Amino acid sequence: MMKQLHKQTSLNHRRDEEMQSSPYSPKTLKHPRSLPRSINYLFKEQRLLFILVGILIGSTFFILQPTLSRLGPSEAQPRPHSSSFVTHNSQPHHHAASKGLRRIPAAIGRRRLRIVVTGGAGFVGSHLVDKLIARGDEVIVIDNFFTGRKDNLVHLFGNPRFELIRHDVVEPILLEVDQIYHLACPASPVHYKYNPVKTIKTNVMGTLNMLGLAKRVGAKFLLTSTSEVYGDPLQHPQKETYWGNVNPIGERSCYDEGKRTAETLTMDYHRGAGVEVRIARIFNTYGPRMCLDDGRVVSNFVAQVIRKQPMTVYGDGKQTRSFQYVSDLVAGLVALMEGEHLGPFNLGNPGEFTMLELAEVVKETIDPSATIEFKPNTADDPHKRKPDISKAKKLLSWEPKISLREGLPLMVTDFQNRILNEDEGKRV
Ligand SMILES: NC(=O)c1ccc[n+]([C@@H]2O[C@H](COP(=O)([O-])OP(=O)(O)OC[C@H]3O[C@@H](n4cnc5c(N)ncnc54)[C@H](O)[C@@H]3O)[C@@H](O)[C@H]2O)c1
Repeated sequence: MMKQLHKQTSLNHRRDEEMQSSPYSPKTLKHPRSLPRSINYLFKEQRLLFILVGILIGSTFFILQPTLSRLGPSEAQPRPHSSSFVTHNSQPHHHAASKGLRRIPAAIGRRRLRIVVTGGAGFVGSHLVDKLIARGDEVIVIDNFFTGRKDNLVHLFGNPRFELIRHDVVEPILLEVDQIYHLACPASPVHYKYNPVKTIKTNVMGTLNMLGLAKRVGAKFLLTSTSEVYGDPLQHPQKETYWGNVNPIGERSCYDEGKRTAETLTMDYHRGAGVEVRIARIFNTYGPRMCLDDGRVVSNFVAQVIRKQPMTVYGDGKQTRSFQYVSDLVAGLVALMEGEHLGPFNLGNPGEFTMLELAEVVKETIDPSATIEFKPNTADDPHKRKPDISKAKKLLSWEPKISLREGLPLMVTDFQNRILNEDEGKRV
């Protein structure tokens, strides 16, 4: 009897429990009487308000997120525009990172790039490195110090985003990087004629090695070619479509033909292996950190006048050149790397000066009492050189900003200090 009573009670209890829990079971939701209770539940403690605010925040984020990333600095970064870039990208590190680039919210900023600059201890290279470090990227400089100097980079030693490797580009090297600026090559006639076989090796084997690296790690590659590929030009000013007038067996051929071959290799790696490439044809550039005695006309004149020597003019001094200040060139190189067009692009200042006019500007800027001395012209020295930069203006939205009269004073202090140190070194 007691047992039966107990059974009955527990059954009733279970039924009660089921009834109590019924409003939460899906079946009972259909029951019309449970509707006011669930609505009541929603309205209690401002639950509905919290849910609505949650939905609002969520949808706002998903609507705004792509727009914000587009507005952020990540947009300034190159997009792998050719399908080959993805196909040939064999580095998981780089590949994943490039894919992630688009997804970084604007608030966090664009992904930091790892960039190699070969020849980064040289004149142009060191200014380029400064720009890349200043914008927040990691930079690895590869240099054999043939014409480059540690002094050009000493202000970056100790910066955790900067590395310097003593290495000759004629030998292969493996690094995981996103971009390669390939500058390594002696640029002045004095230096490239010093060991012509080494110059052509640097241009051919060095460029092959760097293109091989770009292919392996899926990096973007920029070659700094030269206006010398036009040789002694029969077209004036020179457009990128002009094929040039180069002596293949002359004293300058190690450089001219070396750079022409480097351009060929660059395009062949692009067409054949899908490497994303850029080609810059640089015209005469000047600025602080140029080698003092490299035979280039601007550095020659400036150093000679500071040392109270006459300026050496070769030939009759009527041959023309255009002179570009280094910060203009660096801006052009970065615009080219970040842009969508491979080139080649002429990067130079179209302002044309004869050697005699240049000597006059140097005289006005540094010492009005400076004099000129004439010497016979060197072999294969081009008579005219002036870039047509309409392609770079149109496609890179780039043009030089600093005139010769503005730029020259900017290199004089650097030259004066170095010549002073040189003289003090001799006295010790
Ligand atoms: N400055 C110009 O007016 C000008 C004009 C046309 C083209 N360019 C090109 O721009 C680039 C830089 O020129 P720059 O004026 O700074 O010359 P630079 O001589 O000051 O710099 C060249 C750098 O490359 C390094 N280098 C040379 N051979 C190397 C090798 N085998 N391995 C590793 N490093 C090596 C040198 O040590 C130096 O640091 C060059 O490729 C040059 O051909 C310059």
